[in-house]
Amino acid sequence: MAESILTLDQLSVGYTEEPVVVDFSIAIPAGSITTIIGPNGAGKSTLLRAIYGLNRHFGGTVRFRGQAIERLPPKERLRLGIGFVPQGRCNFPLMTVRENLELGAFTLRGKAAEQVIERILAQFPLLQAKLGIMAGNLSGGEQQILETAMVLEASPQLLLLDEPSLGLSPANQDQIFETIARLRDDGLTVLVVEQNAHGALQISDTGIVMELGRLFMVGPAAAVASDPRIKVAYLGGT
Ligand SMILES: Nc1ncnc2c1ncn2[C@@H]1O[C@H](COP(=O)(O)OP(=O)(O)OP(=O)(O)O)[C@@H](O)[C@H]1O
Ligand SMILES: [Mg+2]
Repeated sequence: MAESILTLDQLSVGYTEEPVVVDFSIAIPAGSITTIIGPNGAGKSTLLRAIYGLNRHFGGTVRFRGQAIERLPPKERLRLGIGFVPQGRCNFPLMTVRENLELGAFTLRGKAAEQVIERILAQFPLLQAKLGIMAGNLSGGEQQILETAMVLEASPQLLLLDEPSLGLSPANQDQIFETIARLRDDGLTVLVVEQNAHGALQISDTGIVMELGRLFMVGPAAAVASDPRIKVAYLGGT
């Protein structure tokens, strides 16, 4: 198995008095796709946000490529190679696709920024055709891809995605899952929280089920998808 790029050990995180996610331990292999599923309020978004440094740390460690990062602010984690695409889409709907991509490359200057935008457009040809369109006029799936593209401009090695297919048509959901699989094939490690358990587990190497802030199940995605309890709860089985 590939070396672990992200290792959580006994991680407890939350917001105010009590941790929401408790004693969470997992090792994510480099170059894999891992999907987290679980009921509403289980703490999936809290866990993902905590990996990016957006939540209160109560205990435990987050190691990224061997380095303890649980005390680092988000911008440091981004610099180390962690990208986070939060739930919801299109931060700048009244700006064009090109302007959004320029914003995503704002830390780079002149030629470097142009090169990054060219790389991203080669990776996402559909954005090339929409450069002059206001981002708010893109379809939901296209907006989600634009948001992901903006985060990828920072060249992360680990991409955290929170509900990328939420609210999208089935065709757009497929497009998002195809994009995620392609990014993994290009060497990226992806950790994704998804309500479409079926679609997400299909492209994943590993499945994680969270319940009440804790790890309920972890295993190969196919094994999680075929577990009778998971089928009934998340996959419309009987
Ligand atoms: N900003 C916040 N302040 C305090 N509590 C919060 C905050 N955000 C979330 N919580 C609480 O943390 C718990 C877990 O929420 P979280 O958003 O992580 O769940 P989730 O698994 O992502 O759910 P969903 O599937 O609905 O997105 C919930 O009880 C929620 O009320
Ligand atoms: Mg959530």
